[in-house]
Parts: sequence; C-alpha cells; structure tokens
Amino acid sequence: MTGRRIFVTTALPYANAPFHIGHIMEYTQADIWVRYQRMRGNTVYFVCADDAHGAPIMLKAEDEGITPQELVARVAATRPAYLDGFHIRFDHWHTTDSPENTFLAQDIYRKLKAAGFIEQRTIEQFFDPVKQMFLPDRYIKGECPRCGAADQYGDNCEACGAVYAPTDLKHPKSALSGATPVLKASEHFFFRLSDPRCVAFLREWTGDDRLQPQIANKANEWLGAGGDGLADWDISRDAPYFGIPIPDAPGKYFYVWLDAPIGYLASLKAHCAKQGIDMAALLADPATEQVHFIGKDIVYFHCLFWPALLHFAGTPYRTPDRVYVHGFVTVGGEKMSKSRGTGISPLRYLELGMNPDWLRYYLAAKMNAAVEDVDFTGEDFIARVNSDLVGKYVNIVSRCAGFLTKRFDGRLTHDFGADGLRLLDTLREAQTDIGLAFDGREFSRALREIMALADRVNEYVNANAPWVLAKEAGREADLQRVCSVAITAFAELSRMLAPVIPGTIAKVEALLGVSFASWDLSLAIERINPYAHLMTRIEEQQVGALFELPAAAPPPPSSPQRHAQHQQKTEDKMQTASQWEPFISIDDFSKVDLRIVRIANAEHVAGADKLLKLTLDLGTETRTVFAGIKSAYDPATLVGRLTVMVANLAPRKMKFGLSEGMVLAASDPDGQTSGLFLLSPDSGAQPGMRVK
Ligand code: 2FM
Ligand code: ZN
Repeated sequence: MTGRRIFVTTALPYANAPFHIGHIMEYTQADIWVRYQRMRGNTVYFVCADDAHGAPIMLKAEDEGITPQELVARVAATRPAYLDGFHIRFDHWHTTDSPENTFLAQDIYRKLKAAGFIEQRTIEQFFDPVKQMFLPDRYIKGECPRCGAADQYGDNCEACGAVYAPTDLKHPKSALSGATPVLKASEHFFFRLSDPRCVAFLREWTGDDRLQPQIANKANEWLGAGGDGLADWDISRDAPYFGIPIPDAPGKYFYVWLDAPIGYLASLKAHCAKQGIDMAALLADPATEQVHFIGKDIVYFHCLFWPALLHFAGTPYRTPDRVYVHGFVTVGGEKMSKSRGTGISPLRYLELGMNPDWLRYYLAAKMNAAVEDVDFTGEDFIARVNSDLVGKYVNIVSRCAGFLTKRFDGRLTHDFGADGLRLLDTLREAQTDIGLAFDGREFSRALREIMALADRVNEYVNANAPWVLAKEAGREADLQRVCSVAITAFAELSRMLAPVIPGTIAKVEALLGVSFASWDLSLAIERINPYAHLMTRIEEQQVGALFELPAAAPPPPSSPQRHAQHQQKTEDKMQTASQWEPFISIDDFSKVDLRIVRIANAEHVAGADKLLKLTLDLGTETRTVFAGIKSAYDPATLVGRLTVMVANLAPRKMKFGLSEGMVLAASDPDGQTSGLFLLSPDSGAQPGMRVK
C-alpha cells in the first residue's frame, strides 16, 4: 500500500438528541480533510458512533417509559438524514453500546489493572433514597455555599461562578425525586493519572508536535509545574447505570467517559471486520496515523485521559498521532440561542431545500487550524456563497459551456494558445500550495486562493469575450479555444473544490465527463454534455426561514406621509417654467453610480408577469436584479451582453427575492407602446466601468 494510512474520527455525539449545527461543522471539517487525503491517494478509515451510555440517557429513557437501547436506536435512526444530507461520508457509524466496545473497554481496563494503574477506594457520595441511586453532580441542586443563590447544580454556581463539591451545597435536593440526598459510602475504581509514570508520559506526549500550540499550553497548565496537577480519575459508577460492566466487580459500570473514546476503536473494529482488515495489525503498524477531530470543550478527556489509557494499555493500542481541536459555531458573534431566534437547525436547513454545499463552503471559508469559533451571519453567508460560488466559480462554466455545445457539439480543442496555457499553468502551479492548505486544515486560505484563481479565469473570459467572438464571422477557432481554456480552467478549479462541495462536483463530473477523484492526475476533457444549472443563488428569504435574522432596516416613512410629499412635488412641478425643471446639479447626478455590467444569467421568475431575474457581473462581484423587461426579451438572448446598471440603488426586497440595483432601458412614457430597449455600451466597455 502506498501513501499515508490514517484512522480518523470525529467526537461521538450523545445518543439522546439530534445533531446540532456544531456537529455538522465538525463533521464537515473532518470530511473535507478526509476527502482531500483520499484524493492524494492516502488510505483513510473514517468512523464515528453514537455515544450511548451514561446517566442522562438512562434517565431520559426512563422518563419516556422506554429502554435506553430503544432511545439510542431511535436517535441513531435520525443520523443518516443529516449525514447524507450534508454529504458527510463516514465509512462506518457504530454505537458504544456494542459488543466491540464492551470487549475493548474491558480489555483496556484489564491491561491497565495488570500494569498497576487501577486503584480501588471507598468514597462517600450523595444517594437518592427514593430513586435508590447515587446522584451525579448535575442531578443535585441546592444553595450555593458561597453566595447563597438558590437552585444551583452540585458542581458549580451559575450565579457567582464558584466551583465546589456537591457535599458543600446547602439544603441539597435530588433533582430526580426532590428528596434530600443522604451520604453513602461506595467502592470506586480510579485510573491513577497522578502516577509518576503517567505524568512523565503525558509531559512528553503533550510536549511533542501533535497538539496545536494553544492546546499544548493548556495541557501543560493542567499538568502543573511539578507534574502534580492531575487528580486520579474516577472511572466507575454504581448500578443502576447504563454502561459497560466492570470485570469482576458486580454492580459496577464504567463511567461513560471511559468507554466513549474507546468507541472510536469499536467503530474501527466493526468496520475492519466488514472489510476483512486485521485491526490489531493496522493499529500496531507504526505507519498508521490516528487522528481525532474534537471541539475545544473536550480537550481534557482527549489530551490527558485518552492518550494515557492507550499508552499504558499497550499493544495493540496506539496513542493518537494528532488531536485537531476546533472552536464552536457562534451566530452573529454570540452563542446560538433558540429563544433569541439565532438557533440554526441543520435538519430545517435541509428541509428548506437549501443546498448542503452552500453551508459546507461557508463553514470551510471560515475554518482554519487554530482553535477559533466559526461565526455564522445570514448576510455574510448569502454574500460569500453568492459572490464566490455562483458569481465567480459557476459563472465561468455558465458563460462558456453553451457555446461549445451549440457550436462545436460539445467538443473542446486542446490547442489552448499561449495566454490560455499560461492561465492553466498558473492554476496548476497554485495547486501545490492549496493542497498544503487543505492538509493543514487551513481551509479558509485554500478557498481564498481558489477564488483568486477563479477571478483570473473570469478576467481571461472577459478579455476574450466569447459572446463577441460568437457573433463574428470566421472566429470559430478562437471561440472554441477561449471556451476550451475556460472549461479546462473550470475543471482545475473544480478539482480543488472537490473536497468542499462534493454535491456540486458530482454534477460537474457528469457535465465534463471527467473524474475529480485524484488531486494529481492530469485532466483531459474531450467533450462536454449540455450545460444544466449547477447551483442557484441563496435568496434572503431562505436564510430568514432558517432562523430569525436581526430586524431589517426600518421601512420608508408611512404611506400617508409619503403621499403628501409626492403630492407637493407634483404640484411644484406643474408650476415650473420648463419641462426639465427642477434641474439637478452635477453633484446630484454623480450620486448615481452607473456601471457597465455583463448579464451573466437571465431567467424567468415563476409567478411573475413582467419580471426577468438577471445576474449581473460587475467584474468584481455579481448582483441579482429583477427587471421589468420580460415583455421585450427572451432571457436566452440576454446572457453575455453588456448593459448599464444603477449600482448604488438601495437593495429592494421584492416578492421574488432581493433586487440589488436596476438596469437601464428606454421606452415611451407608458413603457408599452413601442417596446423596451436595454441600453448597451459601445464595444470595448468592460464590466465594472463607470458611466458618467
Ligand atoms: O461531548 C460529547 O458530546 C461527547 N459525547 C463526546 C465524546 S467523544 C469520544 F470520546 F467519544
Ligand atoms: Zn454562588
């Protein structure tokens, strides 16, 4: 086997709730990385599972009158809709409540015990005399011992931030039964994290290059200056508990956080069994890499407990080679909140028919290798996707494919001309650095570079104006050459975008008749299929339906007032001497920013009698404008031509979407009798030029 061999996981989600956007963000990050690795010819085992055990799941199931297994199965059944919906392609999805996990957790425990890392101690804990169970900290409430705030959890006070033991709470009550808990002694099993061997190992492990600097610093802080910062870890829970039984300890179960990461291995084991792979050999091979993608809230478990468990359990287990930590998803800079209307439900996103690649692209455009939050704002989402993916990337193929199909039976020439070859070389040269960015999880840099290349391709298309060549006699070869260069360049861009927008890329593969499975193989496109729409723009209403956006700008003054103003102006006009009065000054005129634009796309609007929806290319960006010119123009004849737009007209919300400007057309006063005539500049004008 050539190339790298990488075992990749994402954090296992608790099996008591559906996915939220944070899960989708993490899976998207890992999925992009994995797709990139596969394109490089590397072998990846990409697995995940439901994190099924623990008290919350047991209690929730009890509340619903079902077994925990039934609850877990119900939630597990919701997973594929999200994963398939967002093109997240795990090789295997498992559960921690499985024979594989039981075997592995018990095996690891036995090995740790044999090596002297397990200690048994008697501790006193709160016990609910009504429910007949020991209470986890979160299920005990009382008054804060420091500030006296009522109704605080057993581990910390939300009012003053104090951290304490449940036994410090004043007037403690069980959150399950309301009873006053009693202290009761019980035998617990501890993993000896404070063992000097363990501290020495973790110092070395966290000090190597496997962690992001911020995470390594944090781990160092936890380890403490003298390595005395680590407390032994309580890994057992008493029955009743939904978990894996501890060998030779009746009524004792592993704490959920002990068996959860072992679930990574359980999922790999199940996958290997299906594929006929020897998991022990795979893990034991020094060439194998083990990589975990996780959020910043579970670093302690993954960077201290987990490597220590694996290291001291010994063969065939291996310690993680990399732990890639990311931040949270915020909305408008704040934590998501359903009550503030800023919650984004991934399922709702899909149900609204929104393109999963939009979200993947947007998240990727904001992701890097640092432990930073990813902020989502509706406006930014719309702008980024519409301007980059539609306005730059799709724009290339939508402007050029039609000419090849109509005029050359879809066939490309490979005679690209000197400037075409230069352009394609630029793209291929940039690919190395873009690859490094993907490998280093610097997705935002990768996409910035790809979009800068898309700009170059659009410049080439603009400069060579295939729509002009198409009208000129004897320019067939030039037309075919320019469109072939553009489509080949589009293919190169598609290959680089393949890890990010796989749904769209599948359509591009069908269109161009090539595969983007490899990052390196050279692409030779012979003949393309007729162009079918690749991606629509995001409409503001779609995002509005996703969650409540902050209130839009206030509407213009109320109509009676406006009517009065209008009335006054009309009367004023009637009294003026010339039909051209009142005159405006040159300063007034210069407020109107008129620009040359190319109509990149034109289409009918379902349900609209007069409107066409135009996509206008301003050179540096694209705009959507709804223009009342349907009576005069067939949309197909508009695509590619130049016209003039008012670029600084305030965007207007229309029934069919947001109109971001206006195109200029001539007509008689009623706009009907003699027809409508769009303005056109003389040839030579370029999109973006100012008209004055
Ligand atoms: O924080 C969580 O959602 C946990 N269920 C993550 C577990 S990750 C791994 F250890 F399984
Ligand atoms: Zn307090």
